[in-house]
Amino acid sequence: MNIIFFGAPGAGKGTQAEIVSKKLGIPTVSTGNMIREAIKNGTDMGKSAKSYIDAGSLVPDEVVIGIIKDRLDKDDCENGFILDGFPRTIPQAEALEKMGVKIDVVLNIEVSDDAIIRRMSGRRTCLKCGATYHVDYNPSKTEGICDNCGAELTVRKDDDPEVVKNRLTVYHNETEPLKDFYSKKGLLKTVIGQEELSDTTKLTAEALGIED
Ligand code: AP5
Repeated sequence: MNIIFFGAPGAGKGTQAEIVSKKLGIPTVSTGNMIREAIKNGTDMGKSAKSYIDAGSLVPDEVVIGIIKDRLDKDDCENGFILDGFPRTIPQAEALEKMGVKIDVVLNIEVSDDAIIRRMSGRRTCLKCGATYHVDYNPSKTEGICDNCGAELTVRKDDDPEVVKNRLTVYHNETEPLKDFYSKKGLLKTVIGQEELSDTTKLTAEALGIED
């Protein structure tokens, strides 16, 4: 199954994508994680993307499309994949089609802007493996340490409340039109993100037709 997880920043795409990825045994391809990794490693792409990420703006389409093309060509994507954070603009969605990639479902997680701003303030992220936690809703077993890989957890720079507001504006202006794009193709399924993470997981599994 080739799935797109769609939604505003902080809607819970990464959290649900990780759960579904383990259930289905297919990789999650997160453009955000790949760009953060490039920044950490000081690559040319990372250096040019840093100012966009820090400001909460979108990295230019041609950069992200290039990354995705290379990643989807890898063998582990042969039996399916989950796209988390891509596409984010109409040109990115069109580029995916031009690559000949067939999408089975676009899972849209809807959460209000107010709830997102509350959530982002408690998010903790592992910069090594990309896992995401929340100090109240989804804490790691040991405070400040990633359950998956044991690395230290950090607060993402772009989770600063002012940057989150900009990310939400960018989402509504540039990314939200994709709902209509995929709805017209009959691919969009929407779940309402719940206060309890496990409730969203259940609704996501139902929408995808997989076992919870
Ligand atoms: P990216 O890393 O993709 O960030 P995002 O889309 O803004 O999404 P987030 O990772 O912030 O949130 P999420 O929806 O995955 O939520 P999460 O599961 O963590 O992109 C970052 C930047 O990279 C962009 O701003 C841009 O600059 C660049 N970029 C990336 N892709 C790009 C592209 N295609 N084109 C151009 N630029 C691109 O959950 C959030 C928090 O809430 C967590 O703490 C979690 O534990 C908690 N939580 C989750 N679900 C629940 C629940 N149901 N109840 C309570 N808490 C919950």
